[in-house]
Amino acid sequence: MAKTFTSLSLIVSVAFLAICTARRPPLVSDVPVNYTHVCEPSRFAKQGLDIAEFGYCDTSQSFEKRAKDLIDRMTLEEKVLQLGNSAAGASKIGLPPYEWWSEALHGVSNTGPGTNFDEVVPGATSFPTVLLTTASFNQSLWKRIGEVVSSEARAMYNLGKSGLTFWSPNINVARDPRWGRILETPGEDPFVVGTYGAIYVRALQDVEGTLNTTDLNSRPLKVAACCKHYTAYDIEDWLGVDRFHFDARVTEQDMLETFQRPFEMCVRDGDASSAMCSFNRVNGIPVCADKTLLQDKIRGQWDLHGYIVSDCDSIEVMVHGQKWLGDTQEDAVSQVLKAGKCIPCRYVSPIEGFSAFAEVTYEMGCADVACKNDSLIFPAMEAAREADATILLVGLDLSVEAEGRDRVDLLLPGYQTQLINQVAKASKGPVILVIMAAGCVDISFAKNNELIQAILWAGYPGQEGGRAIADIVFGKHNPGGRLPLTWYKAEYVDAVPMTSMPLRPVDEFGYPGRTYKFFNGSTVYPFGYGLSYTNFSYKITPSKTALKIKLNKYQHCNNLNYTNDDVKPFCPAVLVEDLGCEHEFGLEATVENAGKMDGSEVVMVYSKPPTGITGTHAKQVIGFERVFVPAGGKNKVKFTFDVCKSLAIVDGRGNKVLPSGLHTIMVGDADVSFFVEVQFYQ
Ligand SMILES: *[C@@H]1O[C@H](CO)[C@@H](O)[C@H](O)[C@H]1NC(C)=O
Ligand SMILES: *[C@@H]1O[C@H](CO)[C@@H](O)[C@H](O)[C@H]1NC(C)=O
Ligand SMILES: *[C@@H]1O[C@H](CO)[C@@H](O)[C@H](O)[C@H]1NC(C)=O
Ligand SMILES: *[C@@H]1O[C@H](CO)[C@@H](O)[C@H](O)[C@H]1NC(C)=O
Ligand SMILES: *[C@@H]1O[C@H](CO)[C@@H](O)[C@H](O)[C@H]1NC(C)=O
Ligand SMILES: *[C@@H]1O[C@H](CO)[C@@H](O)[C@H](O)[C@H]1NC(C)=O
Ligand SMILES: *[C@@H]1O[C@H](CO)[C@@H](O)[C@H](O)[C@H]1NC(C)=O
Repeated sequence: MAKTFTSLSLIVSVAFLAICTARRPPLVSDVPVNYTHVCEPSRFAKQGLDIAEFGYCDTSQSFEKRAKDLIDRMTLEEKVLQLGNSAAGASKIGLPPYEWWSEALHGVSNTGPGTNFDEVVPGATSFPTVLLTTASFNQSLWKRIGEVVSSEARAMYNLGKSGLTFWSPNINVARDPRWGRILETPGEDPFVVGTYGAIYVRALQDVEGTLNTTDLNSRPLKVAACCKHYTAYDIEDWLGVDRFHFDARVTEQDMLETFQRPFEMCVRDGDASSAMCSFNRVNGIPVCADKTLLQDKIRGQWDLHGYIVSDCDSIEVMVHGQKWLGDTQEDAVSQVLKAGKCIPCRYVSPIEGFSAFAEVTYEMGCADVACKNDSLIFPAMEAAREADATILLVGLDLSVEAEGRDRVDLLLPGYQTQLINQVAKASKGPVILVIMAAGCVDISFAKNNELIQAILWAGYPGQEGGRAIADIVFGKHNPGGRLPLTWYKAEYVDAVPMTSMPLRPVDEFGYPGRTYKFFNGSTVYPFGYGLSYTNFSYKITPSKTALKIKLNKYQHCNNLNYTNDDVKPFCPAVLVEDLGCEHEFGLEATVENAGKMDGSEVVMVYSKPPTGITGTHAKQVIGFERVFVPAGGKNKVKFTFDVCKSLAIVDGRGNKVLPSGLHTIMVGDADVSFFVEVQFYQ
């Protein structure tokens, strides 16, 4: 952008405080817990107890032995009092009370009663909401944010202001654009979501210098993270269908391929110390009561080293939620939302951000996000008529998309569209549209309006958001994000009910597919879309393009369905669990910055199954890396892929198989690709 503008009109239809999500006033039932180390000798002494008599505090013993000692000392009544998020402790045996529920989705927050801000610690850093952070596709940034959050969390614990157990991250796949909690998630791709989850968990949990602990059951934790909400959960309250009663009808295929994958990565790769089961049912059974999903999968197959918690307290309490929230659950949720007003936290407003570059005239184009009438549009047009350039900040907030609240359309609310069109028409200078929202908004009208020079999606950008937006608009920072979500057109919501779970199109009812993997219609912006002030070009060198895999007598060929039996190979596929999968392939990408500005490029790598197999995804992300490339310069990035993780598909029966044939590997927006051929022989 030119830097010569002296005046700007800044027109806003969103309250910027929307970024300060997840704040709430103390609930009546809150009892501030004075956190203390369990085995603190002085506390025992004060209670007239001799700590030496309590085996569970003997650090020379194993954790198993100490845990058993503790349990053995408790009466049944005392044990019951430890269930639920507020554990009462047992004073007779020196066990202090503990509040398990703390949250740190994008910064330490007081959403859970376990964390309390006061004069000593008035707040914590509010990072951008997760969806926006994901859009950076910068894995070291994801990790760095998690490390800062856990340092702040640990400091708060040391001051007695928070617990050690944080019920974050939220790694449910954003299956439907109407979901109210999309802002909390890393988007719609299961691999991206799982990668984010594993990195964030490690950043919360890992203690520097102890990463090579061999006994994973005694790995030291900075704080404990939690993979939630397990599983197939992504409906809040949609046209009367609510999350407490919803029964998600899910196929084995979708379960394995989409809903479970992030959880498997979060538990296995992240080694999370906790997982939370969700409120909903899956195929008739409440997840929190499903032995197969909990015991067999998470504890058994995935080898969880930690605890499983049900969403907001034990099952019994979940049903009688009003007892501990002092209200109905719905009311409690809305209390959280109301409370958000969304207590102010420290933040840089857009006015402050833009004032660093030019003189700013500020107009509220709408009284609030709902924008029920057009009474403020005229003054906004007047401001735009006078200024050298106009910035329009529009979008949604937690009154539209939030926990407990799904959307019913993909439009800007009320008169926001009119505001944009009329201001663009009146404006003397260039018009920049900034969209603040998590879920997609159909802004085709603005995309097609040549009076609007640029559109910037800013999500809910956290406490420094105002500065970041201004820096990008004025070219001080070159953006390089990518959409972690498909931006559907508004008609999408009429084509498929939110309650229909399948990811694939349902031809019987004419439902389109979901996410970039299965939706083939036209979009406002596709998954992975993103621009930069410079241009990048790629050169690709594949490291291996033919994989001949010899099968032993225990490895059998599996059948697959093909659109045309003529293309069916002799051995269509082999079960991944039979293969062992020591095969790899890779590529090196040379990224060249052809433009005049330094910038970072997200190199996205997709795989596409051999043509002709029915019911497969169009493509899927298998790797990504963000690289910095100076203007006129080059940078290299190298990928190595595990054949099974990157090329396997889940067939219609729910088997994970590696198909034979030509797999296409696509880099970036598909203009660079090559084949990897998989062949089985006996
Ligand atoms: C926590 O400590 C404060 C100050 O020492 C005290 O007033 C309060 O009663 C304690 N709370 C509990 C639950 O023990
Ligand atoms: C990724 O984020 C880190 C901060 O953790 C930053 O230093 C680095 O420049 C970013 N990388 C790119 C390529 O933008
Ligand atoms: C952990 O193991 C890695 C690889 O084996 C090694 O490079 C690293 O130095 C080890 N770290 C510590 C703290 O021992
Ligand atoms: C327009 O909406 C605002 C805020 O909702 C309200 O205060 C005002 O009275 C409305 N004006 C008209 C003319 O309806
Ligand atoms: C898109 O999917 C629908 C539903 O399966 C199908 O009928 C249609 O032919 C597909 N269109 C394209 C262009 O592939
Ligand atoms: C980038 O590429 C586009 C077309 O693909 C071209 O119009 C534009 O001038 C290029 N910009 C730079 C900075 O090279
Ligand atoms: C092939 O299609 C049939 C009929 O739709 C189905 O019953 C079967 O499970 C499919 N097989 C695989 C491997 O997907």
